[in-house]
Amino acid sequence: MSKISVIVPTINEVGNIDNLLCRIFALKDKISYDLEILVVDDGSTDGTREHVLKWQEHRPVRLIARDDDKGVAKSVIAGARAATGDILVVMDADLSHPPEAIPDLVKPLLEGTCDMTIASRYIKGGSTPGWPFCRRLASFIATAIARIFVDVCDPMSGFFAVRPQLLRSLDPEKACFKVCMEALIAGGPSLRVIEVPITFKDRVSGYSKINLIKMGWSYLCRLTALAGGNMSAKSGIRFGIVGLLAMVLDLFVFSVLIALKFPIGQSHVISFFASTVFNFTCNARWSFAQDNTQRLSFAGFGRFLLLALASLFLRGGVLATLNQLLGWPPLLAVIGGIFAAAVSNYVGNAFFVFPLKPKHKGLRWRAISVIFLIYAIVLRLFYMGVMELIYEEAYYWNYAQHLDIGYLDHPPMVAWIIALFTSVFGNAEFAVRIGALLSWAVMGTFVFALTRKLYGRGIAFVSLFFVAGLPFFFGIGMLMTPDAPLAACWAGTLYFLAKAFFDKRRSSWWGVGICGGLGLLSKYTIVLLAPASLLFTAIDPMSRQWLKKKEPYLAAILALLIFSPVIVWNAKHGWASFVYQGSGRFNGSFRFYLPQFLGYVAALLTPVGLVAVSGTFLGKKGDRRSRFCMIMALFPSCFFLTFSLFREVRLNWTGPAWICLIPLIAYQIMESDTPSRIINFLRKAWIPTIVVVYLIFGAALHYFVLGLPFAAYPRDLPLLGWSDLARQVEAVEDELELSTGHEPLVLGMDKHKIASELSFYRTKLAGKSRDRGEGVRYTAGPNFFGHESLMFKYWFPKDKGLRAYSDVIVLVGPDPKSLCLDELVEDGWNVGSVKELIVRKNGIPAGWYYYAIARSASANFIGALK
Ligand code: GDD
Ligand code: MN
Repeated sequence: MSKISVIVPTINEVGNIDNLLCRIFALKDKISYDLEILVVDDGSTDGTREHVLKWQEHRPVRLIARDDDKGVAKSVIAGARAATGDILVVMDADLSHPPEAIPDLVKPLLEGTCDMTIASRYIKGGSTPGWPFCRRLASFIATAIARIFVDVCDPMSGFFAVRPQLLRSLDPEKACFKVCMEALIAGGPSLRVIEVPITFKDRVSGYSKINLIKMGWSYLCRLTALAGGNMSAKSGIRFGIVGLLAMVLDLFVFSVLIALKFPIGQSHVISFFASTVFNFTCNARWSFAQDNTQRLSFAGFGRFLLLALASLFLRGGVLATLNQLLGWPPLLAVIGGIFAAAVSNYVGNAFFVFPLKPKHKGLRWRAISVIFLIYAIVLRLFYMGVMELIYEEAYYWNYAQHLDIGYLDHPPMVAWIIALFTSVFGNAEFAVRIGALLSWAVMGTFVFALTRKLYGRGIAFVSLFFVAGLPFFFGIGMLMTPDAPLAACWAGTLYFLAKAFFDKRRSSWWGVGICGGLGLLSKYTIVLLAPASLLFTAIDPMSRQWLKKKEPYLAAILALLIFSPVIVWNAKHGWASFVYQGSGRFNGSFRFYLPQFLGYVAALLTPVGLVAVSGTFLGKKGDRRSRFCMIMALFPSCFFLTFSLFREVRLNWTGPAWICLIPLIAYQIMESDTPSRIINFLRKAWIPTIVVVYLIFGAALHYFVLGLPFAAYPRDLPLLGWSDLARQVEAVEDELELSTGHEPLVLGMDKHKIASELSFYRTKLAGKSRDRGEGVRYTAGPNFFGHESLMFKYWFPKDKGLRAYSDVIVLVGPDPKSLCLDELVEDGWNVGSVKELIVRKNGIPAGWYYYAIARSASANFIGALK
């Protein structure tokens, strides 16, 4: 007959202990195994011990009295070491945990179907009645953090059953008070765990012994330590002290050098290095030191410097947002920036420069993925609202000002999203872009779910590392283009397809239809997923049955229905959009574009990504999951590759195709037991590669928003200074309006960049003060002169003639010739001289434009009358 030992840690539970023991022994009739109860008491003074000793006289109850070195974990482990049962149950004494659940917890263990059972509050059937909101929130956050590392719903439970060896193996000196979680992590990925629902009742007698803040912090430190992060109260405080001293040293060296008449640029670089060396040495020897044998290495110093850079770029973003967007004074803003950089530096030091050995490598990867993910989100959040719109974004913002069910060069989703957020937050960069970040988040969620479905939750966390760090995905999560919603829908379609193929779920075809339809409303290329999935069904015998069922066809019809607005728009506009995207792309001249194509892929995925793509061909043959990923990723990308053999392709085209590669490359670095040389290389190369990606993005964002020391802005890059251009054009326009009494029409004389940006920034400048529609109604493109202007030719139809819009125009172009002044003169306009416009960003020249003014000869002007 088996024997079960119930371990109950106690401190001052006199009001509960009798009741608890009664209820446990009441189970006796229902069970067919022996019971033993160990009460592990930490210095109770209320008579708990005496009560237990009474029980001990006539029942299998044992008191383990401990008087110093208190702690739940130490008590439970001591209990486990003293227990004689084949299975251990751990529970609280305060009746929060219903003893009646013990048989359910023990049963699967006795049957051998699992290695551990947890009484769970958070699976279906479990509950915590009567908890106030704050307690729920605290528990939710703590559980969410734990669930990064373990794959159960309630890892914080204090009520669980397990075999003795596992609990005995825990280190009582290191284990934190969440013994269940310790056991889960010690058990590793192969531990089979089942959760049993319970209702958690708050204690009626006595008081809680858990100090939330102190325990919370020690719990967080313990979790990170298990994952290889060197975080503790000690290292945190020491890190802070070293940081302050380093700052003093920095300022001191800087002032000395200045006093010695060194140039300022040199002084600051030298003082920076002095303080960094000091910082590094003290942190290595003191803050994060494990023992005195810690060696200082150049590699460590290199990592320390890279980390400092990553924190610096983050600091710039925080500084810019607080100062430029929220209007904080510079000093306060920089303090905010310093705080953000300190946090990022500390976490980075703990995990990358002075790490501990993780319990197993999977834990470290999970932690790293989450840290990289948070950095990517925070960096973009802080730069999003302060970086000027790139002209594509400004162009799509113009879409949103002319809401419609279709447009010439793209379907309408991007416009709808921008319209939604600008109607809430106003016409500002943040409002235009937040939809991109949210779309990216939706995509990430689907990729996580897809990877979890295919390869399990551990690999799913690693997939987030790529969702965050691969350049294409980083980019679409910040810039609002059709690629952002497209990627979200693409990932959703893949997820539901995988559900249909691998779970044989009929209902998931609804998801395929909806995501596919919304994807078509974002960008036509998602249609490539249709032939790709057809190909998969053809190759995969287990999926072939779907061809004979109605659901896939219904999904296709549903997608087309959702897409129908675009068909209506096209029908009304002579199929303009389909022609533009279809034959328009093929009509171009022959070009062998393969090398550029490969370059683009390397830019989207990094060169290491290219290696990873080729590495996927080495995986296990005949694995359905890998085959699914390969086909769904490679079919669309090979389509564009073929196209590149004879026509020009664009940088971002293959982007979404790589979504389905993410599960595979995450699996690649985590799983295979006998890694090939390529896989070994990838395991080492990915983290440094993504670090470089972040540094490049961070530097670029800093450069675009705040500039970089010694770096001028390039002359021919229409990227920066739009807000200054709008300001200057507004000044010209205001004066003209005053002197003529006419509202001038501003014409951007390149294809659509100047018009799009001026339209946005003129509107933004007007703010709430003036007629906000003016910026849009009076900014047009060059279609009046027969030049391509994309949607502007629909918004400002030429057939009405230029004079129908205004009798005064301001032409703005990239060079004097672009202004088409001769044609205007021919048309009878009075044309003024061409003037140069130099726009600045952070006081540095950032763009060169030309403008001229033209007046219709026939009109009456106030100015002329005066
Ligand atoms: N031996 C020993 N030593 N026992 C302790 C100690 C200690 O240092 N601290 C607390 N206990 C005992 C208590 O007497 C009680 O039996 C049990 O451990 C749980 O302590 P409570 O004070 O009731 O903690 P709680 O209700 O706030 O927390 C419980 O619920 C959480 C869920 O919200 C615990 O079970 C947690 O593990 C659980 O996460
Ligand atoms: Mn309790």
